[in-house]
Amino acid sequence: MTSDNPTVALIGPGAIGTTIAAALHEVGRTPTMCGRSARERLELRDDRGRVVVPGPVRIDPAEVENTVDLVFLAVKSTQVETAAPWLSALCGAKTVVCVLQNGVEQKALVEPYSSGGPVLPSVVWFPAQREPDGSVWLRGEARLTLPDTPATGVVVAALRGTRCSVDVAADFTSVAWRKLLQNAVAGLMALTGRRAGMFARADVTELSLAYLRECLEVARAEGATLGDDVPQAIVDGFRGSPADLGTSILADRQAGRPLEWDSRNGVVLRRGRSRGIPTPISDLVVPLLAAAGDGPG
Ligand SMILES: NC(=O)c1ccc[n+]([C@@H]2O[C@H](COP(=O)([O-])OP(=O)(O)OC[C@H]3O[C@@H](n4cnc5c(N)ncnc54)[C@H](OP(=O)(O)O)[C@@H]3O)[C@@H](O)[C@H]2O)c1
Repeated sequence: MTSDNPTVALIGPGAIGTTIAAALHEVGRTPTMCGRSARERLELRDDRGRVVVPGPVRIDPAEVENTVDLVFLAVKSTQVETAAPWLSALCGAKTVVCVLQNGVEQKALVEPYSSGGPVLPSVVWFPAQREPDGSVWLRGEARLTLPDTPATGVVVAALRGTRCSVDVAADFTSVAWRKLLQNAVAGLMALTGRRAGMFARADVTELSLAYLRECLEVARAEGATLGDDVPQAIVDGFRGSPADLGTSILADRQAGRPLEWDSRNGVVLRRGRSRGIPTPISDLVVPLLAAAGDGPG
């Protein structure tokens, strides 16, 4: 490899994966695409039009012949274990795995399945949703934030000149926890079955602010530097969003799929408890999300 021209594979060609695959394809760097459902092509649409990424999406890790320099892992946090055969097939000792997932525990979650190369967490900023026709609707500018590590350059090189911009953060911990707070409160949408419009309610705003202040205290204990204004800014962001804007945990709830409740909400409760921080709202929200996602019943 040259760090300027890494070979790239994508595992998980869903909403986020399709966006990254299309961004790479548009500049002539179509990645090897690996999924669990056979597809002839991927399709991304946004305000500017449609991009078709020719496939096929591979579905058998045993057919992989070569390892690659860079893997984008865009399966849900609940799907990492089942995607492990792809990581074994695609990763050599130096392969960089860039995890495109919400949460603050991507490295710990994925490292057991990589082959010893660097695992890079990321913050994914763009909303993308899968449409009934199989296409993906990108509802914002594609943007990632990565930590400043020696391996980061490989991801920056792969995405250079694409529609997906990359910020490298010196204080990644703070950026990741800020996004986690946003995801945690978005979990309330999965409980109500409503989209961002619900934040127009005064009672939901009040609950959201109280929950976010709880999350903020845990985030700070975990080393994040975040101001007192963050809860209000996050709620204002939802109130200013299109009323029909969803979130991936709501889409999963409505489709009856497992929920990323542990990586998006449970983490606040777990980390809070281990630090002796009271988390009364998490104590209520997390079991409800867990039961909604995992049952039984
Ligand atoms: N969507 C958003 O707007 C957004 C924004 C920021 C962050 N995120 C985060 O990004 C991550 C990905 O979310 P997403 O919305 O892109 O999810 P998604 O649309 O459900 O995509 C996941 C993809 O992984 C595939 N997959 C599942 N198991 C697999 C396996 N064992 N091997 C290979 N592929 C497998 C799925 O296949 P099938 O096609 O068979 O389901 C699907 O194509 C999540 O952590 C989410 O929280 C999402």
